[in-house]
Amino acid sequence: MTSGLGRVAIVTGSSGGLGRATVEALAGAGWRVAAFDISLDGTPDDAGTIFPMAVDVTDSALVEGAVSKVVADLGPPWALVSIAGTNRISSLAETSDELWDYLLDLNLKGTFICCRTVAPYMTKNGGGRIITMSSIFGIRGEANEVAYSAAKAGVIGLTRALAMELAPVGITVNALAPVMTLTERVAGLPEKFKALQLSKIPMGRYGSVDDVVHTVRFLLSEGGGFYSGQTFSANGGDTMP
Ligand SMILES: NC(=O)c1ccc[n+]([C@@H]2O[C@H](COP(=O)([O-])OP(=O)(O)OC[C@H]3O[C@@H](n4cnc5c(N)ncnc54)[C@H](O)[C@@H]3O)[C@@H](O)[C@H]2O)c1
Repeated sequence: MTSGLGRVAIVTGSSGGLGRATVEALAGAGWRVAAFDISLDGTPDDAGTIFPMAVDVTDSALVEGAVSKVVADLGPPWALVSIAGTNRISSLAETSDELWDYLLDLNLKGTFICCRTVAPYMTKNGGGRIITMSSIFGIRGEANEVAYSAAKAGVIGLTRALAMELAPVGITVNALAPVMTLTERVAGLPEKFKALQLSKIPMGRYGSVDDVVHTVRFLLSEGGGFYSGQTFSANGGDTMP
């Protein structure tokens, strides 16, 4: 990974399985990491390196306040890794308006708000890297994941649009789209659902948190600088877009 020394990253969803591992990897590589989560229970705290902040990513005023505090206290962010999100197993018939709004707001609108807030600071600072979080379901869809699949497909569209819009100011924007990855939350999903996902992965194993963190490392590295608008799917061959 490009040395993070002197660089600032914002990671959202920092108390969750993928967010926490990303925060720890970046802090370990010398980044100063602003760690955003609606609940800080689980966000790592390492004085001087990790700066936990309670932020609801769906609330634009809170995100704007938090990002301006990061800029004032740490300096402008060079990286945004927007991980906050979640799914619900729910068929078309079972998906209420409220569930639809919750999943679209958290997964898609929250990502949009974070990107919109951070991009001007990156622009002023001469560039940066944005990584969004889609899902294998955002590429191929999944039964009983109606709103989540729609939201994560939306994240890919948002990522591509931003990649085009922000390329001239030196900001790359790429999406992660992992296959089922055994974080604590996902390990608790129904066995039947997990077995169905495993059966679709030719390599015969679930994704690991490390698979995702390695992709983040690459995208933030020197060598990752010429990729934008791409969807990086650590998926063991599940889908080949
Ligand atoms: N684990 C997987 O199999 C998998 C696969 C594909 C994509 N993803 C995506 O990766 C991301 C993280 O997944 P995970 O398994 O680590 O989940 P997780 O539940 O462990 O982590 C999600 C984090 O987001 C936080 N969060 C929820 N609402 C928030 C809000 N409004 N504002 C700020 N933070 C909020 C939660 O508190 C939690 O800490 C999600 O976007 C998920 O959709 C996960």
